[in-house]
Amino acid sequence: MSINHVMIIGAGTMGNGIAHIFAQNGYRVTIVDVDEGRIEAGIQTISANMDRQVNKGILKAKQKTEAMGRIHKSTDLKSSVPECDLIIEAATENFGVKADLFRTLDASAKKNAILATNTSSISITRLAGVTERPDKVIGMHFFNPVPVMKLVEIVRGIDTSNKTYKTIKELSEALGKTPVEVNDSAGFVSNRVLMPMINEAIFCLHEGVATPENIDSVMKLGMAHPMGPLALADFIGLDVCLFIMEVLQNDLGDDKYRPCPLLRRMVDAGHLGRKTGRGFYDYSK
Ligand code: CAA
Repeated sequence: MSINHVMIIGAGTMGNGIAHIFAQNGYRVTIVDVDEGRIEAGIQTISANMDRQVNKGILKAKQKTEAMGRIHKSTDLKSSVPECDLIIEAATENFGVKADLFRTLDASAKKNAILATNTSSISITRLAGVTERPDKVIGMHFFNPVPVMKLVEIVRGIDTSNKTYKTIKELSEALGKTPVEVNDSAGFVSNRVLMPMINEAIFCLHEGVATPENIDSVMKLGMAHPMGPLALADFIGLDVCLFIMEVLQNDLGDDKYRPCPLLRRMVDAGHLGRKTGRGFYDYSK
């Protein structure tokens, strides 16, 4: 099916990054969020990130203006849904919130519209189960910063059809991304591998094995990671890291996925990383 108009639910870091690349590649985009101020902030972030691309010669100023003109906003989910061919949910990582959204989307979207989620760990099959169109529900997992990272992890639920998969694969390629197909399992591949590594780095800090700087230096210089695991945890958000570890532990039932007590303590204290100005590093300046 042809995709022309895409709705992105959630104007946060992932939502605005996803809106950015669709608008840049010629798609009409509607960003929906309950909070008007958050939509404005998201649109300003897109504009600033496109300016970065203009300064680097990746985009021409005219292309930026055209792309920004393709972005529309709404705080009213139901009135905008019927026009869209694809809806990508990038709301908060909470099954109840996402399930309510999927029920509403299923009731108001076009019959052939695809319902995708950018969830980093919630089961696609379980979300599809609250809709009457499980064949058209799929995971489209982007990575931060979305305009830069090449991967889209495409997650197939148990009933996702081949047609839906093919549409999303081709669409990801049209966005200049590299799609990788995975099946629905806790954390998919990305977070099944990444989060235990981050959690182990936090255990190293917790047990006094090394300082945050030295833990990160080992992984940057020894393993050629662009960021050390503690800096990356701050970038992702410590609340998100804890949530994903809990999903891995609960769904896979193995204590090797237990979250480090230091991670819990930092989340309890509200030190969530870059977004709160403090995590393993200080961002207040
Ligand atoms: N929009 C557009 N361009 C951006 C950007 C953004 N938001 N952020 C960075 N860039 C561009 C910069 O302009 C720069 O472009 P050039 O290469 O053309 O110069 C390039 O990206 C690199 O940026 P910087 O020079 O500012 O900084 P850097 O070299 O330190 O790279 C980084 C920054 C790309 C974030 C790099 O550190 C990196 O790749 N880090 C790892 C990121 C990662 O692992 N992300 C995945 C997180 S997990 C996730 O998202 C999913 C989940 O489920 C938890």
